[in-house]
Parts: sequence; C-alpha cells; structure tokens
Amino acid sequence: MSEDTGDVKQQRSTNVTWVESAVTREARETRRGHRGAVLWFTGLSASGKSTLATEVEKELFSEGYFSYVLDGDNFRHGLNGDLGFSPEDRTENIRRVGEVAKLFAESGALVLTAFISPYRRDRDRVRALVTRPQDFIEIHVSCPVNVCEARDPKGLYKKARAGEIPNFTGIDAPYEKPREAEITVETDVGDVKTCARQVIDFLRTHEYISQKPQPRSNKG
Ligand SMILES: Nc1ncnc2c1ncn2[C@@H]1O[C@H](COP(=O)(O)OP(=O)(O)OP(=O)(O)O)[C@@H](O)[C@H]1O
Ligand SMILES: [Mg+2]
Repeated sequence: MSEDTGDVKQQRSTNVTWVESAVTREARETRRGHRGAVLWFTGLSASGKSTLATEVEKELFSEGYFSYVLDGDNFRHGLNGDLGFSPEDRTENIRRVGEVAKLFAESGALVLTAFISPYRRDRDRVRALVTRPQDFIEIHVSCPVNVCEARDPKGLYKKARAGEIPNFTGIDAPYEKPREAEITVETDVGDVKTCARQVIDFLRTHEYISQKPQPRSNKG
C-alpha cells in the first residue's frame, strides 16, 4: 500500500481562467429565501449519516427549501468510481466531494453530505475551501462502534470481521472524531426524528432558514 502523505493531488491544468457568474450568491439566496451551506455529516459506517441526511432533507424540502443529499455510496458509483479505500484515495474522495459541495452551496443550496470522512485534516480542508466560514456545518454523527456493528444494515462489519474488507473504519482503519463540530448527534441515544430535529433546530437558531416552520402545502 502506498504511503499516506495527506497531500492532495497537485493541480496540473494551466491556462485556465475563472469565469464570474452574472448572478451573485446574495441574489440567489434572496430569491430562495434561505442561505446556502454545506451540512457535513461525518461518522462511522452505520452511525446514521445517510438516514439522518435523508430525514433532514425531507423536512427541508417539505418546507420549500432547496436541499440535496450527496451520499458516499452514490458518489462511488459515479464521479469517484475510480477511487478505492487507501488513505490517499479517501483523501481524494473527500477533496472531490468538498469541491462539489462548495458549488452546491454557491448555487444557494443546503447541501447535505453523508461520507464517513474519517480524517480530520480532510474535513478541515473542506471547511477552509468553502467561501464563507458559516458555509460549513460539521455534524458529528456519534455512535459507539459496537452499536454500529450490531446495526450493520449493509452487512459490512460482518465482512470486515471476516477479513473480506480490509481498511474498514473503526475495525482496522482509524476514525478521527471532530474536535469542534457545530453539531453532535448521538444516534445511540436519540431516535432518528429527534436527531434530525436537532439539526433543523440548529439551522433555525443560526438563521440559515426561517425561525418558524414554513407551511407545507404544495411544497413536497
Ligand atoms: N438516531 C438514529 N439516527 C440515524 N440512524 C439510526 C438512528 N437510530 C438507529 N438508526 C439506524 O442505524 C442505521 C444507520 O444506517 P445508515 O446507512 O444511515 O448509516 P451510514 O452512517 O450512512 O453508514 P455508511 O457509512 O455505511 O453509509 C439505520 O439502520 C438506521 O435505521
Ligand atoms: Mg451512508
């Protein structure tokens, strides 16, 4: 296995010029009535990232907000299908996701990302990448590994224990917990609705979305 340097790939493209949009970010947000941001869910496999991102998106959509989930498994089907699970491929995976998520936020979306993203420095790079500091909301989906393993909705822990999946996060590959996540949800303590509500409440309190729930009619 190649040594992990933690470095991102060097830019090779030259003679490229940034094209400015004629529509400002502020104009997009004013029209949509809410701020764009990246809700970055991070945690062990089976901690509940996809479940929660999906639940939060459902609520946001039903209130008329522009939201979209970028999910780890889906990304590895397409854009990141060329990447494996070595440390350097994991870093490249998150780099690409970060770039895509940034574009979504720029377009005014509340984009929810559901990736294990085990390395703190990779997540911090995305935090540094986004345009405004408040564009990055790190959500630690916290759950003890034994509870995740007991859930095992995809049978991955079983395969990892059988030696069929090397470098499995939490078993024989590290997970670095966030030190200063904006939100920590404990999915072994609260149910899905309670944890999703915690995220929505954060968005309301910090004025990403309206303080009051919006009417649901004709919106989802
Ligand atoms: N409070 C909770 N929040 C989220 N999921 C929960 C909660 N309580 C129990 N679960 C269950 O835990 C499992 C979480 O699976 P999920 O696929 O969402 O995990 P994941 O973090 O996306 O894993 P992976 O990294 O493998 O994609 C589901 O079966 C879900 O029903
Ligand atoms: Mg998932």
